[in-house]
Amino acid sequence: MSVDVPMSRAPCQPLPRHIAIVMDGNGRWAQQRSLPRTAGHREGAKAVRRIVRACSERDIEVLTLFAFSSENWRRPRPEVEVLLKLFLTTLRGEIRRLDTANVRLRFIGDYRAFPENLQDYIVKAERRTAANTGLTLVIAANYGGRWDLAQAARRVSEAVLEGRLQPGDITPAVLHSFTCLSDLPEPDLFIRTGGEQRISNFLLWQMAYAELYFTDRLWPDYDDGDLESACAAFASRQRRFGRTAEQVAQNQHA
Ligand code: IPE
Ligand code: IPE
Ligand code: MG
Repeated sequence: MSVDVPMSRAPCQPLPRHIAIVMDGNGRWAQQRSLPRTAGHREGAKAVRRIVRACSERDIEVLTLFAFSSENWRRPRPEVEVLLKLFLTTLRGEIRRLDTANVRLRFIGDYRAFPENLQDYIVKAERRTAANTGLTLVIAANYGGRWDLAQAARRVSEAVLEGRLQPGDITPAVLHSFTCLSDLPEPDLFIRTGGEQRISNFLLWQMAYAELYFTDRLWPDYDDGDLESACAAFASRQRRFGRTAEQVAQNQHA
């Protein structure tokens, strides 16, 4: 290996095509510094910028970030307001840079619940970057895995009522086609920062075979080296998809 290549840039193989991250620990990061929780969210936005750049540089195809869950409305109203404002200002501040970096932005979730100016900006940002061919950056906002399955079921029922689909036609593949992200590769690597080991209603359907990776690092501290460690852990795992280890090894060597 060339000495000019920093270790953090050494590519891990195979690379995940799609990384999904629960960005957790902003509040604790702030509390550890006797700052208001919202200071942690502001610092967390900087980590988003770092990790988007790192994924773009690594040629990751899709990065899905959990920005606001359907349960986060339960937080104190002032914190929710800061989160929504930060969402809009970050988006406004980053859109030009993202567009120039060839990033395609997508949003998933029931964002009709958001203030109108934020909804308008979401539509604008998606339109502006729609033709970009680099990293697809998916922001999950007012997203919940159960909401996703419910909206898919609702749309399947509409198709049945209109005669476009028969109940007997509803297979996992058909239901999948109605869920969010069905046009993208499924998440291969799920990362959760902040030490908790749970899914918190993230991509329940899509993560059926994602490799799970948990780290104690708080999201505002998360950096390129942490991402590299997660990718290295991913590369070291054998994904069997129900087969035996021997079957997979034989296929790999075929
Ligand atoms: C994640 O950090 C950010 C959002 C949920 C929006 P938290 O705010 O949940 O941070 P902790 O878990 O309280 O430390
Ligand atoms: C999950 O984090 C949601 C986001 C990161 C947006 P939470 O901090 O809300 O999850 P719980 O409540 O600890 O499960
Ligand atoms: Mg949390």
